[in-house]
Amino acid sequence: RLKRTAISAEPLSSLTHDDSEMKLVKIPKTQKSRELIKTAILDNDFMKNLEMTQIREIVDCMYPVEYAAGSLIIKEGDVGSIVYVMEEGRVEVSRENKYLSTMAPGKVFGELAILYNCKRTATIKAATDCRLWAIERQCFQTIMMRTGLIRQAEYTDFLKSVPIFKDLPEDTLIKISDVLEETHYQNGDYIIRQGARGDTFFIISKGQVKVTQKQNSNDEKFIRTLVKGDFFGEKALQGDDLRTANIIADNPEGTTCLVIDRETFNQLISALDEIRTKYKDEGESRARLNEEFAQLRLSD
Ligand code: CMP
Repeated sequence: RLKRTAISAEPLSSLTHDDSEMKLVKIPKTQKSRELIKTAILDNDFMKNLEMTQIREIVDCMYPVEYAAGSLIIKEGDVGSIVYVMEEGRVEVSRENKYLSTMAPGKVFGELAILYNCKRTATIKAATDCRLWAIERQCFQTIMMRTGLIRQAEYTDFLKSVPIFKDLPEDTLIKISDVLEETHYQNGDYIIRQGARGDTFFIISKGQVKVTQKQNSNDEKFIRTLVKGDFFGEKALQGDDLRTANIIADNPEGTTCLVIDRETFNQLISALDEIRTKYKDEGESRARLNEEFAQLRLSD
């Protein structure tokens, strides 16, 4: 794998990996090489806006390849499967046999075909012996799609702004973030219907909702408005409880909730036990919380 001097640099076999099998293999490298790759990515117009976590993963996964002077690294019009970062040497870029430029160490190339799913837009030849770092399309795309970490960080930040969660330790917040599902509602959608069975707990992350309750006959009485950072649906987490009120999305721009279901929630019960313990003696302002969490089964 280290020495790639073939005429066509990109064997077709690299296109036939099973995406779902993609495991990211980390290749050890010196700090100097890590810095060089990172700087190259940050210097590339098409890649510099990647998240830091993604850049780090690309750095981790790149493996070394070498090309002898004169060999073809990328051929214009080919299906591309590898992105390169130049560590040592020089390459020549040409299109339709016309020289375009020479690239020196610290440059990314071969990114366009992978990022834009197009054919190779230029030909790249080793002008001297070259040492490059390479990453395969599958690995690259796995990293690009791995937004989990970013999502987790966003949710964790959000949870820190939610009064009942904000004082929990970071690792508990991260655990909760991992299991949250984002759901979107349009204005007027019934998120919860009174009388229905439910097993989900909601935290509002955008917009607001109306709480209403059917008193007698068909009158729906407005109870209150809940806003970003408020939660609802917690009672259903105790068991197959019937929903005790309607929750209706109430924002023209839409409402987004972070949702946990009962099963997942039960797995996290000890984290919520912490919440309950933390707040149970905090007086008046926590009254609602106490009342609601007091009903949770914390037997686990
Ligand atoms: P890709 O199209 O995948 O493969 C050829 C690579 O050459 C391309 O990605 C870019 O990285 C690089 N490239 C394309 N056009 C130019 C150019 N005009 N000057 C320098 N590099 C280029």
